[in-house]
Amino acid sequence: MPRPSIVFFIVILVISLFLFLHALSTRLSWPLAIHPDSAQVVVEDDSAAQFELDADFTDHSSHTSPFKHTHHVSPSSAQSHSASTFTRKIVAVGDLHGDMPNAQSVLEMAGVVDEEGNWTGDVDFFVQTGDIIDRGDDTIKLYDFMDKLRVQAQAVGGTVLSHLGNHEWMNVIGDWRYVHPSEIKTFGSTAARQTMLSTGRIGKSWAANYTTTSRLPLHASLGPPNTDYDPNDTSPLSHAAISFVHGGLSPTYSDLTPFPSRINDLGHSLLRKLQFQHPLPPPSPPNPYPGLPRTATQAEHRLYDANGPLWYRGWALEPEESVCSRVDEVLQKTGTRRMIMGHTPDFQKIVSRCDGKIIIIDTGISHAYGGALSALSIEYTLSPASELAVHSTEKVWIEREVVKAVYFDREVVLADDEQQVTGNFA
Ligand SMILES: *[C@@H]1O[C@H](CO)[C@@H](O)[C@H](O)[C@H]1NC(C)=O
Ligand SMILES: *[C@@H]1O[C@H](CO)[C@@H](O)[C@H](O)[C@H]1NC(C)=O
Ligand SMILES: *[C@@H]1O[C@H](CO)[C@@H](O)[C@H](O)[C@H]1NC(C)=O
Repeated sequence: MPRPSIVFFIVILVISLFLFLHALSTRLSWPLAIHPDSAQVVVEDDSAAQFELDADFTDHSSHTSPFKHTHHVSPSSAQSHSASTFTRKIVAVGDLHGDMPNAQSVLEMAGVVDEEGNWTGDVDFFVQTGDIIDRGDDTIKLYDFMDKLRVQAQAVGGTVLSHLGNHEWMNVIGDWRYVHPSEIKTFGSTAARQTMLSTGRIGKSWAANYTTTSRLPLHASLGPPNTDYDPNDTSPLSHAAISFVHGGLSPTYSDLTPFPSRINDLGHSLLRKLQFQHPLPPPSPPNPYPGLPRTATQAEHRLYDANGPLWYRGWALEPEESVCSRVDEVLQKTGTRRMIMGHTPDFQKIVSRCDGKIIIIDTGISHAYGGALSALSIEYTLSPASELAVHSTEKVWIEREVVKAVYFDREVVLADDEQQVTGNFA
């Protein structure tokens, strides 16, 4: 009788499909690296919270303004491109995790590089928020790509701002839980990989050209990137800057100021201690977790703590009320208008919270996750309110900042803020 065997076949098919989908969702719900000091149970909480977040905040991308005195205008009214109009274009990309083809795609999509992977010169700043390493095999290619872009950018007045994520730190510490064996082969051996990340080409690049956080001014009058915020600055542009960090700047982290030099000084000294250990501790697994060097100070331990800038997930995972009630305090202290970070992925989209004051740009770009290919674009303009005003000393200016999430099939405006400012900014 054919009938029972067909029923049996269908039942088996349905069960396998269910198991397959279950395996897939388990894999996707396990994206978060675990801080070495945390118990396993924390992961489950985290990923559960992230799933709630996905459900809760789907439509909460904000289109309203973080400025106090703001009104929205039609694009045409801000397009007065007189000689004294200042513009700055920034593109930021989150976690890349060992996937060179997807990194190239995203940078090309955002106009940072051409189809050959060369700097286009169409953006002023390209920012990467860390976690280039682990979960994929293209570690060497990606760091070399970043180094090439840094030099090409500099030649035409552009800047690449690179950050160390918790995965860069894990690797230099010897916490190799998320390293693929096939990736180690691209270095030749475990020892060769250790050397490359400490005193070799990649390690030297980290020490010279990567920071743990940065403060990027929107306007040139605030100085070059990573100029400390001066709390005594009363100019209307004093906070016209954005912070970038891998995990997040927790409101209870005690080394926020002076921003960003305090955090970056701690990062430099800790990186140096790690890279110049003799001998380098054997990586874990299979060896025990080496931890920070004995010489690490308390402040250096706090830097790498779960509440520190590399691992903090509060801005991504905590409920809207508690996050939005604390964000201004951190923006005030750091002299910034927005905080941009990676680390806690949403596989569909860039997440904007609290009117775009918090933007989380990790969308699982690497094929290890299969998330959305995304980039954040920020276009800033400061233009004279009227041509007549150009020759007086105290001028009225129109300041505009447009923040967009860019994907292959669409762009989403996360903030479009405009305000008048008075001063001499020419
Ligand atoms: C573009 O990149 C290729 C390969 O990376 C290089 O050989 C070439 O010289 C670059 N072109 C320009 C104009 O820089
Ligand atoms: C750091 O970047 C500059 C370009 O900005 C480059 O000339 C230099 O070689 C880089 N240093 C290292 C150690 O990679
Ligand atoms: C701010 O001003 C006060 C008083 O004038 C001064 O003591 C302090 O050093 C200033 N702070 C900075 C960061 O310049």
